[in-house]
Amino acid sequence: AELPSIAADLVRWQRQHGRHGLPWQASRDPYRVWLSEVMLQQTQVATVLGYYERFLQRFPDIAALAAAPLDDVLALWSGLGYYSRARNLHRCAQVVVAEHGAALPRRAEQLVELPGIGPSTAAAIASFCHGERVSIFDGNVKRVLARLLAFEGDLAQAGAAKVLWAQADRLVPTDAADMPAYTQGLMDLGATVCTPRDPQCPACPLQRACRAHAAGSVLTYPIKSRK
Ligand code: ADE
Ligand code: SF4
Repeated sequence: AELPSIAADLVRWQRQHGRHGLPWQASRDPYRVWLSEVMLQQTQVATVLGYYERFLQRFPDIAALAAAPLDDVLALWSGLGYYSRARNLHRCAQVVVAEHGAALPRRAEQLVELPGIGPSTAAAIASFCHGERVSIFDGNVKRVLARLLAFEGDLAQAGAAKVLWAQADRLVPTDAADMPAYTQGLMDLGATVCTPRDPQCPACPLQRACRAHAAGSVLTYPIKSRK
């Protein structure tokens, strides 16, 4: 298979074999998607589930979050760890109310300007909610793409990571309507098939296109020096 079929193959696989039915997938409300992505940055899905529902009951929208005392937000975050996430969430909600009419901006390049929203989270929100054709680029995705492309750059170097991300942006589907399944597919493939130590290449929808698999050198990638 060649590169143009990667997106289609991944989208088809996600719809059949990917993760479905998670609460944040039921909505394309940017607030809900943003909250889920921030919680999922450093916390496992199973742990996030309970916190997510409780948080949304107390703060159903950005305006409610912005108006709340920080201590209330931190109390609902208690146990999730990485409390700077909660502080940034609260600060971001206040900026969005003050400067964006209480709605998150649509484009990834605008989202990344907000407190606590890094470039991969911005791409996740924009692609899930608006079909923007930008690639996420978290640790799982770096590994999948480095193997798929047999990427020889050192991902501990910012310059090499940037080169790989630019290649990732060229792999996304042409149809914006496929972007949510594609983004979720990248996450699901990295979490369940193209895992760090024991990748399940025979079950992978991208096996025929995968350069590392063809070379028999899957575990060589991603290349990452210690800094
Ligand atoms: N980790 C980060 N975002 C996720 C998502 N949308 N679904 C599952 N795991 C994730
Ligand atoms: Fe990862 Fe193997 Fe799939 Fe290549 S074929 S993307 S190494 S699981």
